[in-house]
Amino acid sequence: MRIVLLGPPGAGKGTYASYFKKKYCIPHISTGDIFRAEIAKNTELGRRIKEYIEKGLLVPDEIVIEVVKQRLSQPDCEKGFILDGFPRTIAQAKALDKITKIDAAIHLYVPMEVAVDRLSNRYICPKCGRIYNLKFMPPKNDLVCDDDGTPLIRRKDDEPEVIRKRYEIYYQTFQPIIDFYKEKDILIEFDNTVGSEVGIPMLEKILIEKNILKIEPCNPSVSIQ
Ligand code: AP5
Repeated sequence: MRIVLLGPPGAGKGTYASYFKKKYCIPHISTGDIFRAEIAKNTELGRRIKEYIEKGLLVPDEIVIEVVKQRLSQPDCEKGFILDGFPRTIAQAKALDKITKIDAAIHLYVPMEVAVDRLSNRYICPKCGRIYNLKFMPPKNDLVCDDDGTPLIRRKDDEPEVIRKRYEIYYQTFQPIIDFYKEKDILIEFDNTVGSEVGIPMLEKILIEKNILKIEPCNPSVSIQ
């Protein structure tokens, strides 16, 4: 199962990807997460991209493509992967096409104000990556992760003004990517305005029916978070 998750900020890419990762044991590769980790470690790459991320701007293609190429060459990607947040430009989509074959490109979408509402209430566990939402999927205890007790954090770019800018920028480069995957007949459009407890099983069923999701779950009892 080699999948790309397309969609604007707040569409739910990370939420869906972490469910599939836990249930089917395939890597969830988020370019945003890779970049934030580099910034936190203050690496040379982290210093080069910090400003782009904090302002909500796209990181230049050549940097992103190289990072993804290296990540996909790791052995854990052999049985499949979920790419989250890549490609974001047609140059990235074409580069990916040269690196590997993709089975499905899923466009998760929500209106801008739904995204602003969700992201303004998003909290993340910095240790395991689990995503919470104070309104829709709150942690059981005050701002600590249900799984490992780590204090939850907010992302610097999750401020309403930056969210709106990220959303607009996302759709500026989007149409050629959609056309690219439409032409290959692997595009799946999915409205994620519905709650995750409805949306996740619905998308899972679509992927099984289309014979894209062919592997057995490694953790069949994973719950929808
Ligand atoms: P990135 O980290 O990829 O962020 P993004 O695309 O802006 O997406 P988000 O992570 O904000 O949203 P999501 O769709 O994953 O939503 P989530 O599942 O958390 O990129 C960050 C930055 O890195 C970019 O701005 C850019 O600078 C750079 N970058 C990254 N990739 C790049 C590339 N390829 N090229 C160039 N630059 C790049 O859900 C959001 C919230 O909603 C959560 O709180 C969740 O709990 C809740 N939620 C989810 N689904 C539902 C639901 N169905 N009902 C209710 N609540 C829900």
